[in-house]
Amino acid sequence: MPAVTASAPGKVILFGEHAVVYGQPAIAAPVTGVKVKVIVQADPLQPSGNIRIESPAINFHATRTELPEQHPLNTLFQLLEQALQISRLPAMKISINSTLPAGAGMGSSAAVSIAMIRAISQFVGLPLENEQVNKIAYEVEKAFHGTPSGIDNTVITYQMPIYYVRNQRPELIHLKDSITLVIANAGEAPSTAAMVAGVRQRWQQQPQYYEQIFHRIGRIVQSARKILEEGDWLALAPLMEENHQLLQSMGVSSPALDTLVKASLQSGAYGAKLTGGGGGGNIIALVPPEQAGQIAQRLLNEGAFHTWLTTLRPLKEDDQS
Ligand code: MEV
Repeated sequence: MPAVTASAPGKVILFGEHAVVYGQPAIAAPVTGVKVKVIVQADPLQPSGNIRIESPAINFHATRTELPEQHPLNTLFQLLEQALQISRLPAMKISINSTLPAGAGMGSSAAVSIAMIRAISQFVGLPLENEQVNKIAYEVEKAFHGTPSGIDNTVITYQMPIYYVRNQRPELIHLKDSITLVIANAGEAPSTAAMVAGVRQRWQQQPQYYEQIFHRIGRIVQSARKILEEGDWLALAPLMEENHQLLQSMGVSSPALDTLVKASLQSGAYGAKLTGGGGGGNIIALVPPEQAGQIAQRLLNEGAFHTWLTTLRPLKEDDQS
């Protein structure tokens, strides 16, 4: 069987993180400048049905039989076998390479799962539809992260900006105009699972306070969707500010994230907020395209560990088929 390669992009949440876990809508977009690439090839040295997984960047080398039963990759292999209706995947070597930082809130676990599901299903000659890929990736995300909303796997599967409500079909957002974002990393974050669990604990202690916040975030998301579709994107700036403040009051920002948000605004960004699970990880800043490089440099001077530029563009007709 010839080798097969599949890749998957990163993602950013534009609006609505955390509240989306509680049924509010959120908006996310793919970040195509960073990628997980998976190569699957035959591995004649492995005993029948064994799978070797190599991810040199994170020093992960294992075979399927060595993985603990509850390991998310075991979940992935088992769900793939069910979906493909085969009793056991054949022996193969899976190589994972990534320019997508792990633990930075850019969806690296979902991207790894999705690239693997696509590469393996093509390798065995039974490629899956997006909907099936997304369904399996969501189950694997649960094994990684506890109670995820499903937004990461959905935006990475479809690779388009989406309006997402938990357990509902994602709706594509048809951007009227391009928008340019600087993404800046404020350092390692606790796991998304830990951040989501922290919010859950505080919500249980103060349900009314948190539900009010979730509801306000949901309203912001609805306004943001309209703005993205109508093109007056400068109007996103105050919504980003308000969403960031609400995330602060939920206890998921950090001094480093707040510093980068402030520095973005001082150096010419229209709006900025943390993105993803928080506690560290990334911010996004909405910037005038011609100042993007300068703003990114300022953020590096203010302590950002890394920056990325990304432009979200309106879909072309043939992107939607
Ligand atoms: C993580 O990218 C976004 C969160 O809302 C968690 C989730 O939706 O699963 C924090």
